Amino acid sequence: MAEGKDIALMEKIVSLCKRRGFIFQSSEIYGGINGFWDYGPYGTRLKRAVEQLWWREMIELRDNVEGLDSTIICHPRVWQASGHLDQFSDAMCDCRDCKARHRVDQMEDTGVCPNCGSSNLTEPREFNLMMKTFVGPVFDEDHAAYLRAETCQPIFVDFHNVRVATRQKLPFGIAQIGKAFRNEINPRNFTFRSREFTQMEMEFFCDGAEGMKWFEYWKEERLKYYREKLGFTADFMRVYEHEKLAHYAKAAIDVEVKFPFGWGELEGVHHRGDWDMSRHQEFSGQDLHYMDHDSGRKIMPHVIETSVGLDRTILALLANAYDEDVAETNKQGQNTDVRVVLHLPPLVAPIQVALLPLSKKLNENAKQLYHDLNRYFRAEFDVTGSIGKRYRRQDEIGTPFCVTFDFDSLNDNAVTVRDRDTMQQERVGITQLRAMLDEKINISDASRKECR
Ligand code: GAP
Repeated sequence: MAEGKDIALMEKIVSLCKRRGFIFQSSEIYGGINGFWDYGPYGTRLKRAVEQLWWREMIELRDNVEGLDSTIICHPRVWQASGHLDQFSDAMCDCRDCKARHRVDQMEDTGVCPNCGSSNLTEPREFNLMMKTFVGPVFDEDHAAYLRAETCQPIFVDFHNVRVATRQKLPFGIAQIGKAFRNEINPRNFTFRSREFTQMEMEFFCDGAEGMKWFEYWKEERLKYYREKLGFTADFMRVYEHEKLAHYAKAAIDVEVKFPFGWGELEGVHHRGDWDMSRHQEFSGQDLHYMDHDSGRKIMPHVIETSVGLDRTILALLANAYDEDVAETNKQGQNTDVRVVLHLPPLVAPIQVALLPLSKKLNENAKQLYHDLNRYFRAEFDVTGSIGKRYRRQDEIGTPFCVTFDFDSLNDNAVTVRDRDTMQQERVGITQLRAMLDEKINISDASRKECR
């Protein structure tokens, strides 16, 4: 096994995702379509929770970042200005023997096919990654348009509309969450490299003189978010400092995490200088300067970008959370039951609390409590199978707390709360349950909205 790679873990995660309804291959009954993935019931809950957490942390809890929801298709000139139409390409070569296609920058030995070892390779050729479509009834080059390859370009284009509408002054940011499309030649590693994926990007506009200060600020903010909100520790997450920068960039780091196939990029924090605004000024012919009325200076805003893939965040969370431990040992000390468990942070777990009545006769009373809990937490009512099987199922989808409602509950108005990670059980009065879960799930008033 190559260092840092755990192919078996990847296979287990892919299998769990399908079995438990997190992620499926798109169009599976037609044989699937490479690079496209559907999120099932638990996957959508997890995805939505992460999205809402990011939105809350990056926009709602800040006075100086505004939200945007732009179109996926915009004027084709946007992609000329951004450089995507001319430069957004990968050099590829084909193996004439096994027909595999490889990205040249990902080949360890550029003269040898990583698939079959043949040296019978084509010369590298450039493939543009933009997905093309046509707008209107005529399918010719005059009507060609492109699905956005990144969500940030419309942010640059809308900068002055947002600024005027919100009366923001530099420095301030604009953020959006949305789909991006790339005709990746080699989609691989499950959702890590997809052709359709969701980005969460924030562009922070500032005076060039303050660029490095804000770059450092956002780098620290994002690392803190991963540590404190998603629970990523130093052995799972690292910072990669770019030595070779894009010609316009002033500084850049990637946040990398330990995916099952090795370390991979999760997020980029980049100081892009005034490249983006200058290019859109040049291609649109509009004056995109910012007038600083305090100093009387005309400024071309510089941009600090934080850009993360939502799908990669989900994959990182699953990789970090997946565990197999021994739930029971017999008298001889042998392991009798290996339990699969996702140690997901309670704040983003698809189900935060499951309500499990111990007998069908208790369903009605238990359901009332479930409805109460479901108003405050992502809750599930689970009545099928033995209690042991229900615990296992909830462990596999990462539910941090299971509440069992038994016959005593009718008299003592208390329930048993089982902790996913320790498997310890505790008797709790129903009137204290909400406060206890609030505290354990770490839902402060400020983050109340993000948990739903
Ligand atoms: N605006 C800058 C930008 O788009 P990027 O490094 O190309 O930079 C940013 O993409 C993030 O988007 C990556 O760190 C990754 O999380 C995600 N991403 C990029 N390509 C992806 C793909 N093919 N599949 C899934 N996520 C991808």
